[in-house]
Amino acid sequence: MVKRVIVTHALPGGRLDALAQQCDIKILKGESLAAQSREELAACHGLVCLLTDPIDRALLDTMPNLQFVSSVSVGVDHIDVETLTERNIPVGHTPGVLVDATADTAFALLLAAARRVAEGDRYIREGNWRSETRWSPDFFLGKDVSGATLGIIGLGAIGQAVARRAAGFGMSVLGWTPSGRKVAGVDSVSLEELLRRSDFVSVHLALAKETRFLLDAARIAAMKPGAVLVNTARGGIVDESALAAALDSGHLHAAGLDVFEREPIAMDSPLLRHPGVVVVPHIGSATTRTRAKMVDLAVGNATAALQGQPMPHCVNPGVYPAASSSQGLS
Ligand code: DGY
Repeated sequence: MVKRVIVTHALPGGRLDALAQQCDIKILKGESLAAQSREELAACHGLVCLLTDPIDRALLDTMPNLQFVSSVSVGVDHIDVETLTERNIPVGHTPGVLVDATADTAFALLLAAARRVAEGDRYIREGNWRSETRWSPDFFLGKDVSGATLGIIGLGAIGQAVARRAAGFGMSVLGWTPSGRKVAGVDSVSLEELLRRSDFVSVHLALAKETRFLLDAARIAAMKPGAVLVNTARGGIVDESALAAALDSGHLHAAGLDVFEREPIAMDSPLLRHPGVVVVPHIGSATTRTRAKMVDLAVGNATAALQGQPMPHCVNPGVYPAASSSQGLS
């Protein structure tokens, strides 16, 4: 029987042509999965989805024939992996290939927030750079990056790639990760010590029950005065209201954010009021080469599942009798 696969978004690079040779695919054109007919969902054997598609229990209950989910993302917090695992359904993701692109984005945000790059850009475009504000010794002062201390929360592949970049900037690097993993060149400390000592803090954890609001009001208050927070992992790890309050009170110097509790961020978010906050719209992995690799891995996972093979990059390999594991935000 020809399998039916729903792909929730057109994907770059012609890789879906190869998938279409092995199954019957339906590519959604802007409509949500939940908006599909009951028959369509019931007939679906496989899903290739994005991080913007909530794959929750209610949806899964309408898909009795589902045999695999392959997400074009490394993070899988949009997917109810627990329910899928109970049902012995493998979930694929795309680890490894977005490490450098995401680490570059984290560093871009760190530098931009420290040196007020976005604020300076706005200053000129809004016509404020005039002869009387041309240059002065205290004009547009920012925060030194070289020689500063960077605290990395989460020492998976992305956190380690950020540490390598920091070494190039002559920064001292502190690290904390829930697994206690030690990394060369990174001084492992407790989370509390990291927050207390770091001039810059960059978050590189997966979002899970244990990490939701890990940086809550108390931990943000425990950060070093004048510190900068960078988040390219998931918005749900940071309490945004507490972050906005810490920026407003002057406790923190700035923040560089690629991810938000709710995406797209609401235009009335207090974070957008703050001149020291640099925001970009979840583009950590958005380079042509990286996205092509992510699509390759996601299609590879789907192809393996269609052929009855274990997915090469599966977050719940326990669904297979004997399989290797690939977990975490890396
Ligand atoms: C992912 O793949 O989880 C990233 O957030 C995409 O940039």
